[in-house]
Amino acid sequence: MAHLEGSQYEITVEVCGQFWSVRLHSEGALEFFVALTGGRRRERSFAVLERESYLPLQLTREGELYRIAPAASPAPDSENGAGGVGGADGPRAELPVTWLDGVRGTLRVENRRGDAMLESADPAVAAETASRAGANAGAADAERSPAARAVESRRAVARDGLRLEIKSDQDACFYGLGERTGALDKRGRTYQMWNSDDPFQRGATDPLYQSIPLLLHARNGRCDGVFLDFPGRSWFDVADTDPSAVTVTAENDSISFFVIPGPGPADVVRRYTALSGRMLLPPLWALGYHQSRYSYYPDHRVQAIAEQFRDRDIPCDAVYLDIHYMDEYRVFTWDPSGFPRPSRLVEELHRLGMRVVTIVDPGVKVDAEYRTFTEGMRRDVFARNADGSLYRGEVWPGEAAFPDFTKREARRFWSEQHHELFSHGVDGVWNDMNEPADFTGDFFDRTRFTPPSNVVLEADGRPRSIDHYHNVYANLMCRATADSFARYKPEERPFILTRAGYAGIQRLAAVWTGDNDSSWDHLAVSIPMLLNMGLSGVAFVGADVGGFQGNAEPELFARWMQAAALTPFMRGHTALGTRDHEPWSFGPRAERIARDAIRLRYSLLPYLYACFVEAHRSGLPVMRPLVLEFFDDPRCRRIWDQFMCGEALLVAPVLQPAAERRLVYLPRGEWYELDGNERLSGGRDLVVDTPLERLPVYVRAGKVLARRQALRSTAAASEDSGELELSVYLSGTEDPVRSVLFDDDGLSNDHYDGRYRETVFELSGGAGGSMLRVAPVQLGYAPPYRAYRITVHGLAPETLESFRIELVGPDRERRAVECKIADERAQLRLPVSSEPVELRMSW
Ligand code: GLC
Repeated sequence: MAHLEGSQYEITVEVCGQFWSVRLHSEGALEFFVALTGGRRRERSFAVLERESYLPLQLTREGELYRIAPAASPAPDSENGAGGVGGADGPRAELPVTWLDGVRGTLRVENRRGDAMLESADPAVAAETASRAGANAGAADAERSPAARAVESRRAVARDGLRLEIKSDQDACFYGLGERTGALDKRGRTYQMWNSDDPFQRGATDPLYQSIPLLLHARNGRCDGVFLDFPGRSWFDVADTDPSAVTVTAENDSISFFVIPGPGPADVVRRYTALSGRMLLPPLWALGYHQSRYSYYPDHRVQAIAEQFRDRDIPCDAVYLDIHYMDEYRVFTWDPSGFPRPSRLVEELHRLGMRVVTIVDPGVKVDAEYRTFTEGMRRDVFARNADGSLYRGEVWPGEAAFPDFTKREARRFWSEQHHELFSHGVDGVWNDMNEPADFTGDFFDRTRFTPPSNVVLEADGRPRSIDHYHNVYANLMCRATADSFARYKPEERPFILTRAGYAGIQRLAAVWTGDNDSSWDHLAVSIPMLLNMGLSGVAFVGADVGGFQGNAEPELFARWMQAAALTPFMRGHTALGTRDHEPWSFGPRAERIARDAIRLRYSLLPYLYACFVEAHRSGLPVMRPLVLEFFDDPRCRRIWDQFMCGEALLVAPVLQPAAERRLVYLPRGEWYELDGNERLSGGRDLVVDTPLERLPVYVRAGKVLARRQALRSTAAASEDSGELELSVYLSGTEDPVRSVLFDDDGLSNDHYDGRYRETVFELSGGAGGSMLRVAPVQLGYAPPYRAYRITVHGLAPETLESFRIELVGPDRERRAVECKIADERAQLRLPVSSEPVELRMSW
């Protein structure tokens, strides 16, 4: 690992697993992971951040060290483009930006701490921006905007802070900000960035576990983003005090602030994730159904749960061990009576095709007989009070010390502790309580249920109060966990699940939304919550299916299973002392519905996996609000109870009890029901019958959906029938619609070396026929299937008699293809080929 001080930024270049990663340090804690496109074991130069909006940097190797310097100034390519960067030695870069609507300004990125500030031509913005640090303390009240004054008086904070006001208007919609209660559009409330363990969440509870200071601001047909890179406390007053303004207040004397141009929300998310990092491709098993409870105990109960899934033929890929697997909650130990032979248990579970995920909490029991504590003390990795004494908080094991994850040595120490889990075959790590939660805090004020301000984190020479690093604590813990995978399982993709997180958490971990309730309200709120997480750059998200606290009942459980079936992360979990919440715990009807929902997910895994690949490559979320796909349709701006799974599927879950029907809005274009044959025109509302068995799912016309048999786990793919199902949904328009299929081993990192197969489908329509082009674009992996079993949806009954289909290969010869018409759908078999082919359909 090389470490050097650049003239502009402090840069760390390290070998993270097998990949080069480059991190830009800012404030000593947030690190932008920027080498996502970097090759492995190769030198390369690349634009670290996206050229259009950020600073292009060049990485060059100099012996053992790497030098990073601004690349040659690019020509301005748009009015929002980077208009030039200071010379190679220059300590600053100035980027002209169009500040939201028409106000021009300069985003100045300065000094090696990565501070940035906006200088705007708008005097109001400039005045607010200028009120930094000391200037802020001395500024007369009269110079501040009423909104800012109101924020200050209401919150009584940020006396030493920094405030920025953004002009908006009353029609604007807002999205992002991480994990929030409330509707999809975040207008009309003030949100605090302060990771908090709040299991008592109700309608307007704020903050929760994840704070992501990215706000998407949509108005006048345009969407821009503002991102505040500050891991301490800040507030976003989103048209709350003043319906035409957003005020951002940060408790610090400097901030890094980014304006991220659109023009659509997808552009903002793509650019923001180019800056803060994108999800690594997870192992395929992480996309399966997972089962958890607080806690399955002892080992034979865990095994019995796994066996039930197999006996009842319900697909499942992973089972979780909550805190009782540990020896009196000492992290990195095993309970000697309940889990005496962890290796054997894990082996048995693996034999059943189940992966094992263990919980890890940051609080380390203060115990002179416990190695993780004594070794940690010896290596000085725990957080201390300002007077230098060890900080003693309290978590599950009683008195507990908290690792200071801002220290490199503490992260190394933590990653080494995982040997105790991985040596027994554990597959994934679940990082909980990492806000961090501390029981010695204020039980009733959950923002203070955390170590107090006089705890100091060292940040390798930049000591500050723990408050300053509060929100990034979880990211740094996850980074240590990620390092443990690189250390002990270098051949496998990591799977880490986290409760807390800050900007950039997506590059390290999947996120679940913490302690929800088994209630209809919490089922409903989970949808906009997950959607805004996706818009905040975090693609791999899910809520505890069935609800964590309290007892679900059959109808709620069945509806939750359906609603979660096409969310990115699907895990059933429940609290201590609740009734059983496994798929079979609510009677035969609910079990059938749960099985069908999970099978639906497994049958769509080839499609879902391609959505994850897209998220990995572009940052676009798997689960998307309609506004992301249909930004120009005003109806979509506030729809929160429907979502897109990738580009192709629209899901309209039932979120209320006794709902025999629900309203579904189909955006413009043409749609099909998932297994339907009838083309439905969009731009209208449908009233849809929703008996308990039914989850309304629609497919965009023109899409090709890859599906397979739902097997008992993702590991059972080799038992597949040898055919992959392709559902082709004809469209009436001539413009080709693209769909992508991605295959690899689902487990290793070989895909970075091109060992994957990628196939692009392009379907174009027309009055008398349709054409499907199947073009493999990467052939580095042999998938388990040999042929596609194609079903063509959308043929009009009067065309069935004359329907013909021909295959055109690279030799341009036309060959008739045998095809069967059943149930008004055309069915045919197409052998998988390494050459592009066209299927020409005519009628
Ligand atoms: C926290 C977690 C929950 C877990 C429990 C016990 O409440 O959010 O998921 O089951 O701790 O570890």
